[in-house]
Amino acid sequence: MTGPGRAVETAVPAVRSPLVDAYIRTGMAKVEGWMTVQTAELVAMIGDIQAARGCRGAVAEIGVHHGRLFILMALLRRPKEGAAAVDVFDRQELNVDRSGHGDRACFEANLSRHGIDLQGVSILAESSLELAPAEITGRVGDVRLFSIDGGHTAETTLNDLRLADATLGVDGVVLLDDVFNPVFPAVSVGLARFLSGRGRLIPFAVGREKVFLCRPVAADAYRLALTGAARRYYVRDESYFDHTVAIIHDVPMHAEDQPPPFWGPGAQRFLARSGAYSWIRTTSAFAAARPRIRRLIGR
Ligand SMILES: C[S@@+](CC[C@H](N)C(=O)[O-])C[C@H]1O[C@@H](n2cnc3c(N)ncnc32)[C@H](O)[C@@H]1O
Repeated sequence: MTGPGRAVETAVPAVRSPLVDAYIRTGMAKVEGWMTVQTAELVAMIGDIQAARGCRGAVAEIGVHHGRLFILMALLRRPKEGAAAVDVFDRQELNVDRSGHGDRACFEANLSRHGIDLQGVSILAESSLELAPAEITGRVGDVRLFSIDGGHTAETTLNDLRLADATLGVDGVVLLDDVFNPVFPAVSVGLARFLSGRGRLIPFAVGREKVFLCRPVAADAYRLALTGAARRYYVRDESYFDHTVAIIHDVPMHAEDQPPPFWGPGAQRFLARSGAYSWIRTTSAFAAARPRIRRLIGR
C-alpha cells in the first residue's frame, strides 16, 4: 500500500506463550464475542511489549460477556499476576444500552475450557458504576492491562475510564472498545469528557475496534513499539485529541500480503469461456439481471 504508512523497528523479544497464538488462531472463534483476530493480535503485541519492558501487574476487564477478550488477557499473564473480571451478568437490567449479555456460567466454562484456573480470577458480579477502584486493586493489585467494554453510555464510559485510571500501574495500558462504532456514539463522548478533564491517561494508538491509552510518560515508547510490531498492517501517525497516535488499520501494507483479486482478468476469461456461462446467457433471468451484474462488476 502506498501513502503515509511507515514502520519503526523496535526490538520486542519473542517471549509470547504458544497458548496465546493458539487461542488467537483457533480458540477465540469458539467463544462468542465481537473481537476480531486483528484486534487480538494488537492486544497480544501490547502483552509482548509489556513483557519486554518488564512491566508487571494484573489484567482486568469491565464487560466480559462470554470471555473472548478476557481469556486472551488471562493467557498473557505471567506467574503471580492476577485477573479481575467485572460484569453485571444476570442483572441485565443494569446493562442499559444492551451491549452484549454477560453469562457467568458460560464465562466460567469458557475460562476452564481454555486452561484458565478460576482460582486465579477475581469475578466482580456488579455494575462498574457501583465499583470503587479499591475493590479491584484490593483483590489483584495494580493493573497493567485494563479493557473497558461494559456499558456504552457516555456516563459509564467516563466512569470506567476513571476506574482504569485509578487502578492502572505507571506502565499500564487501557483498551477502550467501540469508540468508532456507529451503534454506540456515546462512547466517544465519554472519552472526550475524560480527556478534557483531569485524567492521567492519553491515547497512543487507534485500531479499528479499540483506542489504546497509557500514562503520558510511556506514550511515545508504546506508540513506537506497537508501530514496529504491527508493521504488516497499514500504520501511520496522526494527531488525535492533540496527542500523536499510531493509526493501525487491518489493511496489509505489502502487495504480497494481499490475496489475489477474485475478479481479476483471469477469472473473467475463465467464466466467459465456460459452458455454464454460455447456457446462462440464453436464459431470460440472466437478461433481466444483466444491467445489475454489469454495475456490480464495474463493466
Ligand atoms: C460488548 S459485551 C463485552 C464483550 C467482551 N469484552 C468480549 O470480549 O466478548 C458488554 C458486556 O458488558 C456488560 N455490562 C453492561 N453494562 C455494564 C456495567 N454497567 N457494568 C459491568 N458490566 C456491564 C454486559 O453484561 C456485557 O457482558
